[in-house]
This record gives sequence, structure tokens and C-alpha cells, in this order.
Amino acid sequence: MILVTGGAGFIGSNFVLDWLAQSDEPVLNLDLLTYAGNLENLSSLENNPSHIFVRGDIGDAKLVPELLQNFQPRAVINFAAESHVDRSIHGPEDFIQTNVVGTFHLLESVRAYWSNLGEKPKSAFRFLHVSTDEVYGTLGPKDSAFTETTPYAPNSPYSASKAASDHLVRAYHHTYGLPVLTTNCSNNYGPYHFPEKLIPLCLLNALNGKPLPIYGDGQQVRDWLFVKDHCAAIRRVLDDGKLGETYNVGGWNEKANLDVVNTLCEILDELKPRTNGDSYKAQITFVKDRPGHDRRYAIDATKIERELGWKPQETFETGIRQTVTWYLENQSWVNNVVSGEYRQWLNKQYS
Ligand code: NAD
Ligand code: DAU
Repeated sequence: MILVTGGAGFIGSNFVLDWLAQSDEPVLNLDLLTYAGNLENLSSLENNPSHIFVRGDIGDAKLVPELLQNFQPRAVINFAAESHVDRSIHGPEDFIQTNVVGTFHLLESVRAYWSNLGEKPKSAFRFLHVSTDEVYGTLGPKDSAFTETTPYAPNSPYSASKAASDHLVRAYHHTYGLPVLTTNCSNNYGPYHFPEKLIPLCLLNALNGKPLPIYGDGQQVRDWLFVKDHCAAIRRVLDDGKLGETYNVGGWNEKANLDVVNTLCEILDELKPRTNGDSYKAQITFVKDRPGHDRRYAIDATKIERELGWKPQETFETGIRQTVTWYLENQSWVNNVVSGEYRQWLNKQYS
């Protein structure tokens, strides 16, 4: 089996669902269920014995070794993190605790487990760390996209904490020989995206007649990747990635934030027109910029394409249409998230 951490979050839950849709190999899912963890994302697995959920902290130095010992996973895929840049600006401490200290403890638990494995499982074992393009800092309009050799230059407490965790993962390979792989991915979007992030926030605000907040001039550029393409990339790296190496994962979809929100509005105008006939674009509102806001991210995904044969399947246009459709068709998930009702899943699951 594999151990997935943070598997009740946005990308982690998509990964678990995709994994179990195409493999019989069980998943042990360790997630602390912070505000960002939502077991309702995994409700379709409720009666699936191949999904074992454990609520807990990656930094728990008692629980994690017990889980590793009892379940003997052949791989650990680490999604667990505090992930929202704006939250890291308001309160960096949780980011240091989970992303840095938590990853450190997880590495220690995994190192102890891996060191005691027999020869065959030891050489087959993998620790895959899911990281971000934000560790590379910001690009000017004409700069080349980030490659795996771009120096780290994180600018927010979030990206600094992710960079620190990447360095620890790297060090555990070089010092102890732990068989690690790291992926640095661009902005994901798709089903189960928590509505604190740009795309789901604007989608839900549009439908509720609220302002669509654009930071600064809206010309910051992100490189958008459909979440299922990211999950496929992680599976490829897990299968055939070279130990100790990093792989950039991106969608070749650089878009300015304002263009992203305009596209969203156009799809909504078509699929769910406003009753007064106006475009949703009328709700766009420019607000104060994010402090230290990175201007542009762009991923050069040549390495993973060339070495592992991975390519994104969705363009931004196809992926965003699927995403809007998913949100329109999953109103009860949306309502439960917005009302906080999704927290009831916790009580239900543990009663
Ligand atoms: P998310 O915030 O939606 O989910 C994070 C999950 O981790 C939640 O379920 C939360 O409960 C869990 N968690 C938090 N602290 C934990 C702890 N101490 N122990 C166990 N579980 C804990 O995040 P996401 O968007 O799904 O991102 C997943 C990973 O991918 C993160 O490491 C993030 O840095 C990275 N990433 C995200 C993006 C993106 O666009 N969302 C892009 C690149 C990389
Ligand atoms: O690049 C990968 C990163 O993408 C991940 O590592 C992070 O975990 C993930 O949260 C995401 O970070 P961003 O800061 O890029 O995502 P967010 O959706 O918060 O913002 C996207 C862009 O939109 C960014 O330039 C800020 C802007 N924005 C965001 C919000 C929430 C707005 O203009 N208005 C908003 O209300």
C-alpha cells in the first residue's frame, strides 16, 4: 500500500480518488483535518476497504512510526501542508509548524522505518514530496520559465516554509540515502478546490452576486494546471522518477489573473446567465494588492515530459470548463463548504 498525507485536501483527495479508480493498491490516508481538510471529498470511498483514513499530524512522532510499522507502505506521498499564501501573511506560525517542523518529523519517522526494511522493500521504497513553483520566487515578463536548476528565492512565509521543507527532503537523500523524489508544481485548479483560492472563490462569489476581488492590477501571471494532470504527473514520478531528483510540473498555461476571472465569467454567462442579463464581469472589483505579491510564475516542464513521457491532457480552456461545470453540478458540496457544514463529516466519521 501507499501512505498519502494530506489526502483530504484539494490535491490530495483528487489524488486518492484517481489512484483508487485505477489501482487495487490500498491507500492509507493521514490527514489532520485542518480547516482545509474535507472528508466529504472522499465520500464516494466510504465503503471502499482500500481507503483507510486516519486523522493525525505528520509531525506526530508516536503515531506516524506506528502507522508505518503496522501498514508497511511501499511509498509515502507527502501532500500535507498549510497551502494558502494569504493565510501565511496573516499568521506564518502554522506554516512553519506543519511545513517545516512537521515535514522534519515525518522525514525522521520515515527514515527510521526505511532503515529497518529488508533489502528488497528498502530499495523499492519511495518518499515523494509535493512542492510548489513558488519556491523559485518571481519572474519578470521576459524571463525564461523556472527549470529544476533555477535557484530558490521564496518571497512569502508560505513559499519560504515550502522551500525549507524541500531542502530537508534533499538533505535526507544526500546524508542518509533516503530514496526521495520532489515535484514542484504550478497553480492547480479543478474539483474540490477550497473557496479561499482565486478560481473557486470567484466562481462562488459570482453565483452569489458578490464582488470578484482582483488584487492590485490583476496582471500577475500564474501557470495553471488541471488537478488531474498533476495527479498523473505524481504517479509517473513515483513510478519512474530518478532518486534524489526534482521534477517541475506545469500546464504551459500562463494567464494573467484578470484574464482567468474574465474567462470564468464568460463560461458562467453561457452556462448560468444572470437573471438581469448582465455579464458576471460586472462583479469584478479591484482591491488592495497582496503584500509582496509575486508578479509571475511559469514552469518549464520539459524534463518530466522528456524523461518520463508525461504531458498535461487539458488546456486551460477545457479544464476551466470542466471545473465550472463540476461546481454547478455539485451544489451540495459547495453549500456544505460555504456554510461550514462539511465539518459535520468529522463528527459523523468519528462518532
Ligand atoms: P490544501 O490546503 O487543500 O490541503 C492540505 C491538506 O493537508 C488538508 O487536508 C489538511 O487538513 C492537511 N494537513 C495540514 N496540516 C497537516 C498536518 N500537520 N498533518 C497532516 N495533515 C495536515 O492543499 P492543496 O492545495 O491540496 O496542496 C497540497 C500540496 O500541494 C501542498 O503541499 C501544497 O504546498 C502543494 N501545492 C499546491 C498547489 C496548488 O495550486 N494548490 C500547487 C503546487 C503545490
Ligand atoms: O503556484 C503554486 C501555488 O498556487 C501553490 O503552491 C499554493 O499552495 C496555492 O495556494 C497557489 O498559490 P497562489 O497564491 O498563486 O494562489 P491563489 O489562488 O491564492 O491566488 C492566485 C492569484 O490570484 C495570485 O496572484 C493572487 C490572486 N488573487 C487571489 C485571491 C484569493 C486575487 O487577485 N484575488 C483573490 O481574492
